Amino acid sequence: MNKVKSFAPTNIALAKYWGKRDLSLNLPTNSSLSVSLSHYGTETTTELDDSLTKDVLFINNQEIHNPSSIRKVETVLNKIRTNSKFKSYVKIESFNNFPTGAGLASSASGLAALTLSAAKTYETDFTLSQLSNISRMGSGSSCRSLFDGFVYWNKGVLMDGLDSIATSIAPSTHWELDATICIVTEEEKKTASTDGMILTQNTSLQFSSWIEFAEQSTNKIKSYILNKDFEALADEVELNCLRMHATALSAFPSILYFKPKTLDIIERVQQLRSKGYSLFFTIDAGPNVVIFSEPKDSNQILKHFSDYKILNSKVSTGAHYL
Ligand code: PMV
Repeated sequence: MNKVKSFAPTNIALAKYWGKRDLSLNLPTNSSLSVSLSHYGTETTTELDDSLTKDVLFINNQEIHNPSSIRKVETVLNKIRTNSKFKSYVKIESFNNFPTGAGLASSASGLAALTLSAAKTYETDFTLSQLSNISRMGSGSSCRSLFDGFVYWNKGVLMDGLDSIATSIAPSTHWELDATICIVTEEEKKTASTDGMILTQNTSLQFSSWIEFAEQSTNKIKSYILNKDFEALADEVELNCLRMHATALSAFPSILYFKPKTLDIIERVQQLRSKGYSLFFTIDAGPNVVIFSEPKDSNQILKHFSDYKILNSKVSTGAHYL
């Protein structure tokens, strides 16, 4: 019974989270909005084991000792354990079904799947909102991977972060959108997102305007999704992405996630849009580009990027038990 398996998808932000108002609780300075992506994510099994003297974590069959990963996992497990009658440690076995270094956030899907599995393993009765709050403490954007389709993460205003939770604003069936992930490089990114956010907050003169813009932009993106206004959504998502990267670029030392091929893809997306195709791009804290398109145009669009390694995906359901 106390062995539970679950799956959580990775998510891609259409309205980016960039900045933390509380570092230890992972509270954001702005609200954000993402889509859960089908096919790609993490499958995690947690099993209570009385013989263990600490929690043990395996990712893709390899035991993990990296202090930063262990800290994230312990944050989630300790929170769940304090609300459980069980106090034993767990063995965690996680499998990412996407290529490592593909620019997809494995910490988001990983922490969301862990939170879901552990909550049941420890026989707690947290609601999904409460689990989103716990998962967020492990890895900020993971709170969005618990939910279906189009997901809004409210920055919240409370000091304890109890109102900084994610909710689905529309299920995946609301709007069929294809996501094409163009791999520019599979190298590890140089600046981890937490380090990048802290550096930006501490040194960028643009940071305060970013926070103001990001909040309004997230609300616009939310309403364009609800109204299925593709053109308005495309303009705002690209602006949101480029302003996040411009803010990071204006940090000191400057944070540059783009590679020359990132710009090549941006340019090609813009050319195709000017010819009337329904597509737009977004880029997280790395060089790889995610292109969203309406299914009627997706095949044609794919052909234009056939010289890149491509991963195909769609807006999908959120985390679930297996
Ligand atoms: O939650 P983190 O630490 O993986 O940060 C995510 C940051 C971005 O991917 C750039 C934006 C986002 O909202 O996902």
